[in-house]
Amino acid sequence: MSRSDLVELAKRRGYFFQSAGAYGGVSGFYTYGPQGATLKANVEDAWRERFGVQEGHREIDAPTVMPEPVFEASGHLDTFDDMLVECPECGASHRADHLIEDETDIEEAESIAIPDVEDLIADHDLQCPDCGAELAGEPVEEFNLMFETSIGPGSSSPGYLRPETAQGIFVEFPQLAEYARNQLPFGITQIGKAYRNEISPRNSLVRTREFTQAELEHFVDPTEDVPDIDRVADVELTLYPADKQEEVEGVEYVTKTVREAVEDGLVHEWVAYYLGVGKQWYESIGVDMDRFRFRQHLSGELAHYAADCWDAEGEIDGDWYELAGFAYRSDYDLSKHDEYSDDDFTVFKQYDEPKVVERATVDPDMSYLGPEFGGAAGEVADALETLAERDRAAFEGDTVTVEVDGEEHEIPTEKTGFAVEEVKETGEHVMPHVVEPSIGIDRAVYAVLVHAYEIDEVEGDERTRLALEPEVAPTFVGVFPLMDKDGMGELARELTDDLRAAGFDATYDDSGNIGRRYRRQDEVGTPFCVTVDYDSLEDHTVTLRERDSTEQVRVPVAALPDLLEDLREGERTFADLDAPAPEQ
Ligand code: GLY
Repeated sequence: MSRSDLVELAKRRGYFFQSAGAYGGVSGFYTYGPQGATLKANVEDAWRERFGVQEGHREIDAPTVMPEPVFEASGHLDTFDDMLVECPECGASHRADHLIEDETDIEEAESIAIPDVEDLIADHDLQCPDCGAELAGEPVEEFNLMFETSIGPGSSSPGYLRPETAQGIFVEFPQLAEYARNQLPFGITQIGKAYRNEISPRNSLVRTREFTQAELEHFVDPTEDVPDIDRVADVELTLYPADKQEEVEGVEYVTKTVREAVEDGLVHEWVAYYLGVGKQWYESIGVDMDRFRFRQHLSGELAHYAADCWDAEGEIDGDWYELAGFAYRSDYDLSKHDEYSDDDFTVFKQYDEPKVVERATVDPDMSYLGPEFGGAAGEVADALETLAERDRAAFEGDTVTVEVDGEEHEIPTEKTGFAVEEVKETGEHVMPHVVEPSIGIDRAVYAVLVHAYEIDEVEGDERTRLALEPEVAPTFVGVFPLMDKDGMGELARELTDDLRAAGFDATYDDSGNIGRRYRRQDEVGTPFCVTVDYDSLEDHTVTLRERDSTEQVRVPVAALPDLLEDLREGERTFADLDAPAPEQ
């Protein structure tokens, strides 16, 4: 299969296509058609079930536009950049690291520093892919990926379309912690649109400017919370650690169960837990596990917030693409919002018994600080209090030095009122750490479609089929009358209505011969088809056909809803259908 075969099928069968085609289209924006929107919704539902319901996490729905201070705190304003090089001839913009990856043997060029990227462009005589002009000597610049907007009239209140759904969870942490009764660990999920102004969107749904993320932020106490590894201990992971990428020629994987990966210290326990959950989920929606791996980020590739990260990657046309990131974000985000905002981003952890502890305090002599520091006296006093909490030794000399607004101030220790006293404490403030499985829904949909695309032969004819898992297939069952006459059409339409009422996505089709109708549904990816024929009018049975095997069985109409339900839920396989139904 070539990429264009799938893109062509996707357009023809209503999966996805570039949006606003009537106006020439804009790169990086796609519309899901009637089949695609349902497939995407089914993938999202499967994600909600696995990462939300089964893990006991709750979902929120935050705005997609957020004010500038959020992204000053999160670091996105300063550091959420890609490397841009512009063609001196035609003006086209390119991602410099992608040019290097495309034209050389170098992988993960994102981790290379800009001056080295400029050298590589020159050393390899890289050219503009659009017009062929030489790019050697052209500057490579940081390009911030956020879409900027203005909130309300005028330009005094800049805002940004969120580049990740995660920030909508982090900024609401004080409310969410209260909701969770300040009990760690707890997880919050969110699914929704995110936006990145990609320099060069490409590979259809893989790199778009507007996309759907499904993220879980799991807040944990780093000193005592551990995952329940037993739940996924035996899940086998295909791992591609950073050292294997850096030191080994070719590709060498490490295969370990989740438990082994944790016990060997290869993957952080919380990250490993979610790699196990992630693998189960991708497999359940139909990603081919022979074309799936977890690759650890190289140190230069890590996002600014991540202490460690493993990407789930899927193989598409011989290349590997990121499908998801499983990051250990430590306390990066909550500490930043705690520092930049007026709110408290810690949780108060109550001790079982109060503890007597020593506490360093100050009681500055304001009659000294006032005349000495004028308007800055209050800030100097605050700085002394912070210093006392953090570094008692700083008060051991005759003077203490604190920094306020970048300026150092020296204060005689005797004027600080420094003391160490014993106090009873009922608990302590803990800054939670965050583990984050972040899943690209569009990429999941794309991988599912690519891995489901098959060409085989049926009765001597080539057929194209999408072998979609019944759990996510947008159309679950096609219902055909052999012909729309003698009551067969009525019965088939009635059956379609009944199946819809029973919760199945059913489609009715009476156009063309039966073989053509099967081929149409095979290409759409409909797992089952039902045909109403003359016998059906007499004995109330129909033919049920399975897409992948093309096998057919005769089943009573009345049994159809239960049978299809079993097939959808994986309670029975098509090959079991001659056997009695399982006990309820
Ligand atoms: N929240 C992780 C990411 O957007 O990549």
